[in-house]
Amino acid sequence: MFALIALSALVFQNINVMAEDKLEVRVFYEALCIDSMRFFRLKLQPSMIGKSRLQNTDLKLIPYGKVIKLENEGHIELSCQHGEPECELNALHACIIENNSVEESFNLISCLMRGFNTNVDVCANHYNVDIQKAKDCKKSRSTVNILEKYGNETSKIQAYFIPAIGMGDEHNYDEQYDLRQNFDNMFCEKFTSKFNYTLKGCKGN
Ligand SMILES: *[C@@H]1O[C@H](CO)[C@@H](O)[C@H](O)[C@H]1NC(C)=O
Ligand SMILES: *[C@@H]1O[C@H](CO)[C@@H](O)[C@H](O)[C@H]1NC(C)=O
Ligand SMILES: *[C@@H]1O[C@H](CO)[C@@H](O)[C@H](O)[C@H]1NC(C)=O
Repeated sequence: MFALIALSALVFQNINVMAEDKLEVRVFYEALCIDSMRFFRLKLQPSMIGKSRLQNTDLKLIPYGKVIKLENEGHIELSCQHGEPECELNALHACIIENNSVEESFNLISCLMRGFNTNVDVCANHYNVDIQKAKDCKKSRSTVNILEKYGNETSKIQAYFIPAIGMGDEHNYDEQYDLRQNFDNMFCEKFTSKFNYTLKGCKGN
């Protein structure tokens, strides 16, 4: 009897942890874009990891940005803002996103975004993440095929400036500067207004 109560308490606790409130955050970025790199390093990582916001975030990383899609007799080609290597890297990021947990993907991609020539194996070793599936995905599918989903997501907004940030249910064009510069404050504000309580480390708590 006692064991049963203890067990159900444990299960209940786990359910509680899993049911944490999450604010949706969409980050539209490009793998070789210096502004995207700065945003990851100076704003997104300090908030998501430094302040542990990730556990309260439904994070959607969208590696695509400003891409020109050329269709020639049914054959599609992509021209990424920072050239062919960026398309390839965006596709690698997409494969990581699709084959690893959110936390693993975020750590890996933040690591990749620290420079123009970061090595995926070095990053994977550093975070102890298995990236074999992501590599298989990149090898076995075309870049056009991998990136289609992210192109669709990006076409739902006007990406005037990359990185572009969506928070909650809407994509607010007037708030883009604030979302980039004061990311964590904006996250706190929008979280509070959606869920009626203030997260630890936010103003007023
Ligand atoms: C990687 O993710 C894609 C998309 O979700 C999936 O189709 C594929 O099976 C995954 N790859 C592996 C090796 O699991
Ligand atoms: C992308 O959008 C096109 C056009 O709406 C649709 O046909 C296609 O299935 C979408 N692809 C993915 C991967 O969501
Ligand atoms: C938050 O508070 C407002 C006003 O008191 C209320 O209308 C709303 O339903 C609350 N939302 C949640 C998620 O509790």
